[in-house]
Amino acid sequence: MLFCGKKLHFMPTVLILGAASDMAVAIAKKFASKGYAVQLAARNVQRLQPLQSDLAIRFNTTTTLLEFDALNFNSHESFFNSLAAKPEVTICVFGYLGDNEVARTSWTETEKIIQTNYTGAVSILNVVSNYYATRKSGTVAGISSVAGERGRQSNYMYGSAKAGFTAYLSGLRNRMFREGVHVLSIQPGFVYTRMTENLPLPALLTAQPEQVANAVYGGVIKKKNVVYVKWFWRWIMFIIKSVPEFMFKKLKL
Ligand SMILES: NC(=O)c1ccc[n+]([C@@H]2O[C@H](COP(=O)([O-])OP(=O)(O)OC[C@H]3O[C@@H](n4cnc5c(N)ncnc54)[C@H](OP(=O)(O)O)[C@@H]3O)[C@@H](O)[C@H]2O)c1
Repeated sequence: MLFCGKKLHFMPTVLILGAASDMAVAIAKKFASKGYAVQLAARNVQRLQPLQSDLAIRFNTTTTLLEFDALNFNSHESFFNSLAAKPEVTICVFGYLGDNEVARTSWTETEKIIQTNYTGAVSILNVVSNYYATRKSGTVAGISSVAGERGRQSNYMYGSAKAGFTAYLSGLRNRMFREGVHVLSIQPGFVYTRMTENLPLPALLTAQPEQVANAVYGGVIKKKNVVYVKWFWRWIMFIIKSVPEFMFKKLKL
């Protein structure tokens, strides 16, 4: 929490976990433009100094750089406890697509996919949400994926980890409702980022990171439960989930 200017007006804080991602950069700019102080948490966080300066120049915002590794589970409690200002909003952006083909025979790759997308997210969000529960306020937003809505042969390692994360967010929302804590699930379809730069994505179905940022900000402000980016992915997934299993297993997806 910061008080700034002569009139001591309240400046809320957003914590962005996985802040070096293309989506996270867009999210940081969006929240900074709306008057939030920004905490950028990432591995090798010094590389985010240009973003820190950019946010300061463009939005006159306070930005803090924080070293954070989603896989260093034992550090998560002390990481959050050591924050000088506790954020009103925490957004979990980090993720790892991995290589599904490699993961079929490499436990190292499979484990990294599961640990990054599921275990790491649960580890840090348990700490954050328990704090919000004691305070009876706060927002937790998680970037999951439509890939978690039905397993497909091309990416079921990543998809199953995101399915776990989506179910975690749903359960957390159910628990936190009575605590006055808001939990938002973001379900992007395809997004143009570093993660997908080598994939041939269909332009009509693919969002820009800025569209994800707008969806996250809108979801936080309107206290939404689940937001799809782009909106029609909700209906695409509805159709995909409706295909009977005896047919689905024969498809090459
Ligand atoms: N792009 C899509 O089409 C798409 C669709 C649906 C959902 N998503 C999800 O959207 C989120 C953002 O991804 P993106 O598309 O913006 O891809 P991205 O640019 O590749 O970002 C992924 C970020 O996760 C960070 N990360 C990975 N492991 C980490 C760890 N152990 N500790 C801390 N940070 C770690 C990476 O950090 P480094 O920079 O240090 O490598 C990277 O900045 C992810 O959760 C992804 O699964 C993406």
